Order: sequence, then structure tokens, then C-alpha cells
Amino acid sequence: MVEPHAPILFLDSGVGGLSVLAETRELLPDAPVIYLADEAALPYGDKSEAEIAARVCGLLGRMAERYHPRLICIACNTASTIALGMVRDVLEIPVVGTVPAIKPASEITQTGVIGLLGTRATIRQAYVDNLEAEFAQGKSLLRHAAPELVAAAEAKLRGGMVDPAFIRNAVEGLRGQPGGADIDTVVLACTHFPLLETELAEAFGPGVQFVDGAQGIARRIAYLTRGQPFRRARQDFAIVTGHEQDPATYASAFQPFGIAEIRGL
Ligand code: DGL
Repeated sequence: MVEPHAPILFLDSGVGGLSVLAETRELLPDAPVIYLADEAALPYGDKSEAEIAARVCGLLGRMAERYHPRLICIACNTASTIALGMVRDVLEIPVVGTVPAIKPASEITQTGVIGLLGTRATIRQAYVDNLEAEFAQGKSLLRHAAPELVAAAEAKLRGGMVDPAFIRNAVEGLRGQPGGADIDTVVLACTHFPLLETELAEAFGPGVQFVDGAQGIARRIAYLTRGQPFRRARQDFAIVTGHEQDPATYASAFQPFGIAEIRGL
């Protein structure tokens, strides 16, 4: 029997997973939430597979012991495409990952040319090759690593400016590839990127649709927790690693997502 106040734990390297949390709140407004932003290790996308796997498994193990979540959501494509299997092997609770939404993109593209924006680590994963082989047969999938969009999303959520050059570079990185002019669907394969959808849509221009996994993940979480009681015993809070001295820097980023308290690890 799951305790009513057992939280759902979200993990991302930073604020990107808030795009997944927002969709989950729509379906499960009463679910207690803990959001872990591993800012000390941001960006995951520039690290090796071994570093990411060790970091994510270690952190989630500690969190599971300390907070007894009913479910963990790895709200990060980089961590999920690398470490989802390992985390599931070591933890006994359900773990939901975030993987590039290639299947839905493939179903809606008219031109058959799909763009994919992710981190450097995500776009080189065999996990992505497998999704492409399974769901995008006969289509063309153009990948581009846009690590600077991670920094841009972090800045935006903390009230800073988004450098238009970062957005332009990401668009040109896809459009500049052979066939790139025909892209009509872009997979936002990093949870930070939906936070910049307005800016990206403007830069791509009309006729391009964006797909991310957030709604599907929220539905999966709702499905896996169906019938469970939900009651908050305390306010939802975020844990931000690496900012133990001054976690309040993140208050403005988290507040719109219903998280008023920020703690260190
Ligand atoms: N939000 C993470 C993702 O979905 C990546 C950000 C990072 O590089 O740390 O891939």
C-alpha cells in the first residue's frame, strides 16, 4: 500500500524537467512532488556515459532511501537514454524515463523529414538509433546537438535574457544539413528545450511543429499511480545540488511550477 504523502520524485540536471512536471501537474494536481535539480553536474550532455550513469544512479539511490518516493521520473533525455536500465536494475520502485519523441514525430510529419535537437550525449546514443530504426523507417531523421539551448533555458527561467544567437545556431544546425529545408517536425529531445518553444518556433518560421515527450510521460506516471491515494503532508520542494549556500537563486524559476521551497542536498 502506497502512503498518501509519498512523493513523486523528478530528476533533471537543471530546470528542464519542469517542462515534464508541468504536464504531470495537469493530470495529478494533488500528487506530492520533490524536484531534484542536479545543477552541480549541469550540463549532463557534455559528460561521458560512465559519468552520467554513476552520477544518476548514486543520486537516485540516496533520494530513494531518504524520501521513499512512490515513483521516480528521470525528466532528462540524456540521463534516460544512458542510465534508465541501470536505475531500474538498482531501485525497486517504478522509474519512468524521458526518451526522444521520435515515434509521435514520425506519425505526424508530412514531408518525412524530422529534425531532432538534443544534447551532445543524447544524439550519439544507441537508444536513439534504435528508436529511429523502429519508428522512423522510410523517414529522414536529422540530428543536431544544441548544448547552448540548455544554458539559454536555465537563463530564461531565472529571469535572464535568451541570446538569439543560440536559437539561430540551433535552427541553422538542422536547416543547414542536406534535406534540412524540408523539415516540418522537430523533436525537442532535451527537457530544457520545450521551455524555449516560443523562441524556436519564431526562428524556424511557419510550417514547423514541435514534439516532446512531456505529455506522454505525464500519462505514463498517471497510469502507473492509478488508484493510489495522494495527500500532501508538506509543501512540495526542490533540491538544488551545488547551491547549498544560496539555493534561493532558483526561487523565481521554481515558483510558477508550484514549488516555493528550495533546499540544498
Ligand atoms: N535536460 C537534459 C535533457 O533532457 C539535458 C541538459 C544537460 O545537458 O544537462 O537531456
